[in-house]
Amino acid sequence: MSAIKKEYKRITTKSLVEMKANGEKISMLTAYDYTMAKIVDSAGVEIILVGDSASNVMAGHETTLPITLDQMIYHASSVVRAVDRSLIVVDLPFGTYQGNSRKALATAIRIMKESGGHSVKMEGGQEIAESISRILTAGIPVMGHLGLTPQSIYKFGTYTVRAKKEDEAEKLKKDAKLLEELGCFGLVLEKVPSKLAQEVAESISIPVIGIGAGDGVDGQVLVTHDMLGMTHEFSPRFLRRYLNLYADMASAFKKYISDVKSGDFPNKDEQY
Ligand code: KIV
Repeated sequence: MSAIKKEYKRITTKSLVEMKANGEKISMLTAYDYTMAKIVDSAGVEIILVGDSASNVMAGHETTLPITLDQMIYHASSVVRAVDRSLIVVDLPFGTYQGNSRKALATAIRIMKESGGHSVKMEGGQEIAESISRILTAGIPVMGHLGLTPQSIYKFGTYTVRAKKEDEAEKLKKDAKLLEELGCFGLVLEKVPSKLAQEVAESISIPVIGIGAGDGVDGQVLVTHDMLGMTHEFSPRFLRRYLNLYADMASAFKKYISDVKSGDFPNKDEQY
């Protein structure tokens, strides 16, 4: 399908659905702070995700579970101050929406009021349908997240590809349809076979954004620190590194240390 490129001054949930209908692929990246969000937004990415991956990337936790609602609000409000055009999606952190739809609504309202983000993302299907519905009744746009859902890592025990078995694939397809019916504006599909992801994307009208979900979906998302090569312990097959910033930054730091020690920095032009 050929992509009809329309210029959008600001990306809204409506623009994204329109882009899917027009066959234009959607780009999405994470940001957790003002400086990174400014660069990502000015580059023209459509969606900035304030992901709970901040728990790993910014705080060094092994999983996404420990990050708190206050910490997510801090990251999201830093991103909001930087962004002029992208749609900002903020993850609801683990433990703030599962099993209690009133609490879920209160969480989403705090995120919208205190950070200024534009929408929220939640992991799961049928199990969290009541929470999603309640949040939607308050006029808060919701993005779903199916496939590998890192907040449930202790239930599954591994970060391997999801929905390879027929019964899991059937549940995923049903959940995707349900999320569309409930009124979600989009869906992240993480680490699932590309054939299944394409089938899901073709069966619903809302955009499906993949991470490790192949080329048959409506857009792609990566963790910015991973695609810039700032992280280097993590090398899944789906990750394309556009830079090797870990090595470049380490060599800049080494050069700085040696310049300080040798007295080369500061030179005569770098002082008052
Ligand atoms: O938190 C995050 O960064 C995410 C992406 C991996 C989609 O949910």
